[in-house]
Amino acid sequence: MTDITPAEIKSFITYAIELKSRGWISMLKNKTLAILFEKPSLRTRVSFEMAMRQLGGQAIYLSPAEVGLGKRESVPDIARVLSRYVDIITCRTFAHHNLEEMAEYSRVPVINALSDFEHPCEALADLLTIYEKKGKLKGLTLAYIGDANNVANSLLLGCAMTGINFNIASPKGYTIDKTVLKKARNYARVSGAKIFCTEDPREAAKGIDVIYTDTWTSMGREEEAEVRRKVFAKYQINEKLLALTKKNSIIMHCLPAHHGEEVAVGILDSARSVVFDQAENRMHAQKALLAMMLAKE
Ligand code: CP
Ligand code: NVA
Repeated sequence: MTDITPAEIKSFITYAIELKSRGWISMLKNKTLAILFEKPSLRTRVSFEMAMRQLGGQAIYLSPAEVGLGKRESVPDIARVLSRYVDIITCRTFAHHNLEEMAEYSRVPVINALSDFEHPCEALADLLTIYEKKGKLKGLTLAYIGDANNVANSLLLGCAMTGINFNIASPKGYTIDKTVLKKARNYARVSGAKIFCTEDPREAAKGIDVIYTDTWTSMGREEEAEVRRKVFAKYQINEKLLALTKKNSIIMHCLPAHHGEEVAVGILDSARSVVFDQAENRMHAQKALLAMMLAKE
């Protein structure tokens, strides 16, 4: 997330809104994106493919079974070969250092499509969605309820960079990464955002504009699911928690959702939920990202 600057996030949002209104164009004719995924995906895979198609380019998807990242072939070798064929790479992986290594050895730009540590494309689309729904970013307050995971890390940084106050409620042992928090506090000093960490979801949700959650069990941690269901039981977004937020607050979730776990059944179907606009915006946000990185209009 911190590979882009707060100023770049501002121009990115303006550009994403412009590209969203322009629909299908031929800006990235003859450009190819490689989508190299070690984990499953619905949104990220399809939104990246459609983003390239809508910009006149193309995408090649390499599934977890094909890649063998660091197993069939070393990450540096994959990066050096793949970047001879394509103009840009997006990679979803477990270990974040795989992405850093790929970026180091690739001749072309590498985009993080989710690692165990960060999910910056989600955060960028989320900032776009919040801006569309609320007409501003600075001065709003977002409460993130639940597991301080990859999504929370990128979202915290994005909020701190853009002046959104960030409350996070997570249980002991599942709190936000200290290095991310330190980085976020540095951005917040400049943007004016306030960061508040608590174990109590009710404290975090009081009077806020945006309430956000994600799965209690991220991909790769499936064997912990049973324990996590118990640890996070009090961290559900439900009517009781929502009642503490502002009347016009919105509900966000990066999806996939587990109805009845991190969100009560029916919550994401309510009028306050913006999760499907949020999912759509993955495509518009990534169009802007790809165009900013590749286009020579
Ligand atoms: N939100 C998100 O990244 O969804 P996928 O895992 O389906 O790509
Ligand atoms: N935290 C989740 C996000 C999925 C988009 C995971 O890593 O599985």
